[in-house]
Amino acid sequence: RRKIIIDTDPGVDDAITIFAALLHPDVEVIGLTTIFGNCPTTKSTENALGLLELAERADVPVAKGSDCTFTGEEKLRIADFVHGDDGLGNTGGMRPKSKAVEATASEFILDCASKHPGEVTVLALGPLTNLAIALRDRPDVPLRSIVCLGGAFFVNGNVNPSAEANIFCDPHAADLVFGGRVPMQIVPLDVTCRCLFSSMDLETLAKEGGTIGKCVSDVSQFYADFHKRTYNLNGLMLHDPTAFIAVVRPDLFYWKSGAVRVACDGLLKGMTVMDENKKIWRGENPWTGREQHSVALQVDDRAVVDAVRAT
Ligand code: BDR
Ligand code: CA
Repeated sequence: RRKIIIDTDPGVDDAITIFAALLHPDVEVIGLTTIFGNCPTTKSTENALGLLELAERADVPVAKGSDCTFTGEEKLRIADFVHGDDGLGNTGGMRPKSKAVEATASEFILDCASKHPGEVTVLALGPLTNLAIALRDRPDVPLRSIVCLGGAFFVNGNVNPSAEANIFCDPHAADLVFGGRVPMQIVPLDVTCRCLFSSMDLETLAKEGGTIGKCVSDVSQFYADFHKRTYNLNGLMLHDPTAFIAVVRPDLFYWKSGAVRVACDGLLKGMTVMDENKKIWRGENPWTGREQHSVALQVDDRAVVDAVRAT
């Protein structure tokens, strides 16, 4: 079974992903590391602990991540209007009995990679701050791969026309991680916006999915209302779950490889741009010599949604 650490800001679609990963026979979740994004890091840590308790998997360690961006910015963009004040659709939040481990998220990631060199995949579902700290401290960290939900390449973003939320929240971190040597599969809005759960899926989960299904259905209502209000959509986008399916079923995606850069400031802050290897530019440019990573540009969306349903 493939060992994964989920770096996450739960978060409604994060919660669905955590459950899906815990239930999937091909992966072993060896830890959760937390970050800000959908809520502040203290809250996302409580949510991570609470979700594990609900799934009766409090044996999985949780390591708390950074409270600020990679460059130390404490004023954060929190998506409470998408995920509710508690990050879990205003369902009241979690009051876990268990506690996070002593190690910070980046220390935990480095430690797991050293214990199982070449075996650990980090599934990154929030801003890439923790991974950026880990890679700054150890650029040759022996991770197997990083699969990340992030970016918008040939479609509009969801924070503004150019930026996707996870990248926008900490663009310096993303640019560092995308320039790193750990092999990456980047799963952007280009594919995740097409993978949807319907209200019928939520009803079925509530009726037939036991405690976990009921929890998914409850926390998703606020997120579904946001989709209705904002996109006039009768369903919800499975951003983070799609990135998880990319770990276990990469064959359901069309991947293109290239160097990726992130605009860190200004008008286009958070924009992700890939060099498609067209070799038409003269001289050096900011993409020259950067590591090549895989970006998912197309998806068999029906098969992805079925794969999420199946977990
Ligand atoms: C990403 O931002 C968060 O709101 C979601 O959990 C997902 O990781 C989508 O842009
Ligand atoms: Ca997320």
